[in-house]
Amino acid sequence: MAEPHTQVRWQSRRAFILAVTGAAVGLGNIWRFPYITGENGGSAFLLQYVLFILVLGLPVMMAEIMIGRSGRAGPLAALTTLAKANGASTNWRWLAVFGGLTLFLILSFYAVVSGWSLAYLGKSISGDFVGVSAAEAGGQFNGFLQDLPLMLGCHIAFLLMTMVVVARGVSAGLERLNNWLMPLLYLLLLLLAGYAVTTPGFATALHWLFWPNPDALSWQVTLDAMGHAFFTLAVGACALMAYGAYMPEQQSLPRAAVAVAVLDVVVALLAGIAIFAVVFSHGMEPAAGPGLMFVTLPVAFAEVPGGTVWLSAFFVLLVLATWTSSINLAEPLVAMLVDKHWSRPLAAAVVGLSVWGLGLLAALSFSLLADWHPLAFMAVFEGKTLFDLLTSIPPDLFLPLGGLFIAWFAAKVLSFEQMAAALGSASIARYWRMTIVWLSIPLLLLILLVTLYRW
Ligand code: PFF
Ligand code: NA
Repeated sequence: MAEPHTQVRWQSRRAFILAVTGAAVGLGNIWRFPYITGENGGSAFLLQYVLFILVLGLPVMMAEIMIGRSGRAGPLAALTTLAKANGASTNWRWLAVFGGLTLFLILSFYAVVSGWSLAYLGKSISGDFVGVSAAEAGGQFNGFLQDLPLMLGCHIAFLLMTMVVVARGVSAGLERLNNWLMPLLYLLLLLLAGYAVTTPGFATALHWLFWPNPDALSWQVTLDAMGHAFFTLAVGACALMAYGAYMPEQQSLPRAAVAVAVLDVVVALLAGIAIFAVVFSHGMEPAAGPGLMFVTLPVAFAEVPGGTVWLSAFFVLLVLATWTSSINLAEPLVAMLVDKHWSRPLAAAVVGLSVWGLGLLAALSFSLLADWHPLAFMAVFEGKTLFDLLTSIPPDLFLPLGGLFIAWFAAKVLSFEQMAAALGSASIARYWRMTIVWLSIPLLLLILLVTLYRW
């Protein structure tokens, strides 16, 4: 079992918020949020997603950090010791293992899309997108998915970048760099959303994103909105538990969680506004799928003066953001093996190779393996490629399922004193427990059971 790091604390309150923000803000906001919103009819998805952030994502995020803060150790050790101390079964440790599996599956597609971002950085520096039209940008993206040497090379390059940092255990320096540069990414998104206001499609985009549209409601939309609320906050895979372990005593957990959730939603909304203004200004298809960001952003920047420089800057910042998110995804997996007395470089190599193998198959889903539908024996997964499955099942089912058990553990296994200590006040702990027990857990159970039933 890992040695509990009881004495180690983040240097400052800011450090904790920045670390959790680093895990939260990433491809989920800028790539996944717009494309999932586009596939699910805009506001029908967006309004449920905001609701689920409030009643599921945020309370469960607090549960997850709380467990780490009470256990003062990595997920596996924290769950085991806390369960023992409170007279519960040590089988709770399987929750950490399930979280590890979820992180592995997420990282496998995350690294592929990060590789796309890396390739697009190169392409935009080479001026491939100068004066590009909507149709041309679409053609370029489809061409890129067939360009296996470039796409697979960038996938490998990105994974190497990630695993070298994890192997050397030196992500602190990078975190600091990232903390300086991420505000620039937010600023660039803000400018882009500001520019979107002047485009002809802006009003349509706003209406489509925010005006309630009951016709678009469906069970799939609800399930996607719930899953994305967990994915975007990095909740449900025990990844945030690890951060809670280092939280300073005097810091307010609820306040930090709210700050991160607000920032995460704001970044997603800015990206959504910028991207859908382009979509509606150019008569493009909102439901374009995973390529949406890669098709719309070159078009958006092609219209502004100095577009190539701006677009390149954007992809530099995006690659930095996904780099740290990927490190955050990989680190708990490597740490779990290191706790089993593996050497860190070996653990990083094994995790990196496995993630590469699965990611490779996912990356080929657009070319050689386009007709491979691994779960086609289940009617709901008919016609889904490996990439489709990886980008939907772990985020939309595994994270909420992990979140359900995390919520359960925090509200039912921890003592009330532990909750109050972790949350900083008994009255907040009472409200939090009431929300989790009467709202979050029943709602999660309901949505997951209805989903199973419909299969
Ligand atoms: N929250 C990240 C994003 O929005 O890009 C993705 C993520 C990171 C999900 C870590 C889950 C996780 F444990
Ligand atoms: Na996010």
